[in-house]
Amino acid sequence: MNIIIVKDALEGGKKGLELFENALNNGAEVIGLATGSTPITFYNEVKNSNLDLSDKISINLDEYCGVANDHPQSYHYFMQKNLFDVKPFKESYVPDGANTNEEEACGAYNTILEENPIDFQILGIGTNGHIGFNEPGSPFNSVTRKVDLTPATIEANARFFESEADVPKFAYSMGIKNITDAKEIVLFAYGKNKQEAVKSLVEGAVTEDFPASILQNHDNVTIIIDEEASALLK
Ligand code: GLP
Repeated sequence: MNIIIVKDALEGGKKGLELFENALNNGAEVIGLATGSTPITFYNEVKNSNLDLSDKISINLDEYCGVANDHPQSYHYFMQKNLFDVKPFKESYVPDGANTNEEEACGAYNTILEENPIDFQILGIGTNGHIGFNEPGSPFNSVTRKVDLTPATIEANARFFESEADVPKFAYSMGIKNITDAKEIVLFAYGKNKQEAVKSLVEGAVTEDFPASILQNHDNVTIIIDEEASALLK
């Protein structure tokens, strides 16, 4: 695991762009994308770059269930606003949270992932160690499926909704296996409230109780963290 400590999220976004450009120069075609507040500085750098992504494919990690694709809190909408409006890809995939047929929605997504292996995967991390929406206890061999969001995640994401009651309770998420199948992974984490998660990610036991810990076993992972998030590391 390569660790890059930066001053702040702005600098983290710039570092992320360097790694992304490097991957593209080495032939990356399929890019795994994440939502959340953390990757936004990276997306801003991509938007301000002269990169042309119109012949690339993007595949997002997850989507809330039961939320229309044009709902302002959907991850479809997030990606459109934060990246795709300015930097369109040839094809962009996000799980179809509006499809109530779990088997169909997740099966189709797993097929997309099989046909388009991810070259470069962006990740954030939840304070409980979730990546995508793979909450603690997610099997390391999991693929895209419907997942229950934990009370901690519902509470953490309530800030984006009018009230906690409006936060979806389920999501379709790529599984841990889909994520770790990516050739290269870059995870961003910033701020004091990610300190404990970063410590477990880097120095903790590899366990399904802390899903992101599996990244310790991957041979091409870089974590980009700011000084605050790195404060508990030995
Ligand atoms: C969400 C997303 C994750 C993201 C995490 C952290 O639940 N499904 O992909 O990494 O929250 O979000 P933030 O970057 O806003 O802290």
